[in-house]
Amino acid sequence: MITSLPAPSHALVIGASGGIGAALAALLCDDPCIESVVATSYRGTVAAHQKIVPHTLDLSDEASIASLADQISPPNLVIIATGLLHDDEHKPEKSWRALKPDTMARAFAINSIGPALVAKHILPLMPRTGKCVFAVLSARVGSISDNKSGGWHSYRASKAALNQIIRTLSIEWTMKNHDSLCVALHPGTVATALSQPFQSNVQADKLFTPEKSARCLLGVIDELDGADTGGFFAWDGSKIPF
Ligand SMILES: NC(=O)c1ccc[n+]([C@@H]2O[C@H](COP(=O)([O-])OP(=O)(O)OC[C@H]3O[C@@H](n4cnc5c(N)ncnc54)[C@H](OP(=O)(O)O)[C@@H]3O)[C@@H](O)[C@H]2O)c1
Repeated sequence: MITSLPAPSHALVIGASGGIGAALAALLCDDPCIESVVATSYRGTVAAHQKIVPHTLDLSDEASIASLADQISPPNLVIIATGLLHDDEHKPEKSWRALKPDTMARAFAINSIGPALVAKHILPLMPRTGKCVFAVLSARVGSISDNKSGGWHSYRASKAALNQIIRTLSIEWTMKNHDSLCVALHPGTVATALSQPFQSNVQADKLFTPEKSARCLLGVIDELDGADTGGFFAWDGSKIPF
């Protein structure tokens, strides 16, 4: 249960059709402090629940983000759980030889620019006093100082850009609300469609279920406060260097 937000609170989960997003939305529905969960999908669907208010949203279409902002109650908690590592046309690069402008542009559109546009349209709705949270799922591989193995150029770079966007948003938002929290989170390695092609190299005890990751992430969100804004945190609450 999230105890650090005012009760009742309204949550918004962007990407509630994804592996981790669906688990986050389900846990928020079970939380008596959360009154409603606006849950967005793109091509997939979100699970039905009396607290769920479903919407469709395309991060690469600003009009669909603006339309969502026009239709929802002001949220105290926003979690962006969308992301792109691979799809039918785009694969993570193993070498610079594989770099393609359209793959890079797509990664930045979904992983960096889309979340920035969600902030543009949703942050103005959020409370000016008290704790409120804007969290995005980033990835440890977006840490520049942690990059020891290379590869995955577009995904890494788009997550590094996302981390910088979050840091920059946090500075502006703090001037409006000292208790606001704007953070990037690493969910661990989680058994979802996104990680599926790469799971064979992961030790069984290091591959989390979406439910475990989501529970940890909500615990981290509950523990952090305004002094932590602009940071990058892992599922266990440890700070990740940029
Ligand atoms: N899984 C891991 O091991 C892992 C590790 C580190 C970081 N992460 C990060 O955690 C986040 C969630 O990952 P996941 O594993 O849950 O991935 P996932 O199961 O593949 O879910 C991806 C989500 O992104 C949404 N999405 C994709 N393109 C979109 C678009 N154009 N507009 C709006 N939504 C769009 C999908 O919507 P539809 O399904 O409705 O199309 C889905 O809800 C990502 O940011 C990922 O980078 C995951």
